[in-house]
Amino acid sequence: MKMEDKDCKDVSRRSMLIGAGAIATSAALAHFGGVLRPAQAKGGSTEKWPWPYVKLDPVKTAEICYEEWYRVFCGGAVINSIFGQLREKVGEPYTSFPSDAFTFLEGGQVGWGTICGSPAGANIVANLIIGPRIAGSQDGHHISADIMQWYSEANMPVYEPKKARIEPAKIVKTISQSPLCHISVGKWMKESGLSLKSAERKDRCARVAASTAYRVVELLNDWHDGKYEPTNTFKSSSENGITGQFNCMECHGDDVPTAPQAS
Ligand code: HEC
Repeated sequence: MKMEDKDCKDVSRRSMLIGAGAIATSAALAHFGGVLRPAQAKGGSTEKWPWPYVKLDPVKTAEICYEEWYRVFCGGAVINSIFGQLREKVGEPYTSFPSDAFTFLEGGQVGWGTICGSPAGANIVANLIIGPRIAGSQDGHHISADIMQWYSEANMPVYEPKKARIEPAKIVKTISQSPLCHISVGKWMKESGLSLKSAERKDRCARVAASTAYRVVELLNDWHDGKYEPTNTFKSSSENGITGQFNCMECHGDDVPTAPQAS
């Protein structure tokens, strides 16, 4: 290969990387700066958003979710427990929505222990139903923040299924102080002394999903009735200059770093 060719390759590779960076940056800016425009503005778009909602029974939803967990795991189960019912009661666009596509949310996304699929699923549902924050309402974002905080602070699993799949039905409960699968499951395993593969751990996660489906339906029902009031109190990016969770010291110890501030 001639020297010029190599240089040329390097340059184009560099600019490709810069290009990718620029896209990532503008996406981040769009997220934090609110410069998104409603999808309807795009020419010829047939997108329909937000999606219609009718009130659901939280108990029935939780029961469906508990059973669905054993088929599609946490994220898919939360989505299916709600959209499955709306498919019956409303029809389209729920009929065309491929809930099973969200099975990848399991294990904090394909086992990587990042966000637990239960709040991820609940937030997908809430934001499809409530619609873009740029069109006025911030409720989709607020319900998501409520779910993240509630999940982190709840003594999980909150919901007890009518017919448990394990014997004895009672299981250990823990507070994760985090929406991360790794931390949520890890604290529960430490407290219970049971492995990831145990029937109890699986049932615990099925119940966590059911608890989250129950909670998001409660919030959506309130929102439907015009009674919804946000309860979340934590805004990491504006308060700390970095995205994150509230329990800084749990990971950083006494030495919590300060984020560089914009000049
Ligand atoms: C789930 C664990 C976790 C939590 C909770 C957490 N952090 Fe971090 N944070 C990390 C890790 C891991 C890094 C990257 C490694 C490093 O540099 O410490 C990091 C990096 C940072 C950085 C940038 C890099 C640096 O070290 O200066 C800042 C600033 C920061 N965290 C602040 C906070 C603040 C403020 C909070 C609470 C609002 C918080 N973090 C909560 C795990 C966490």
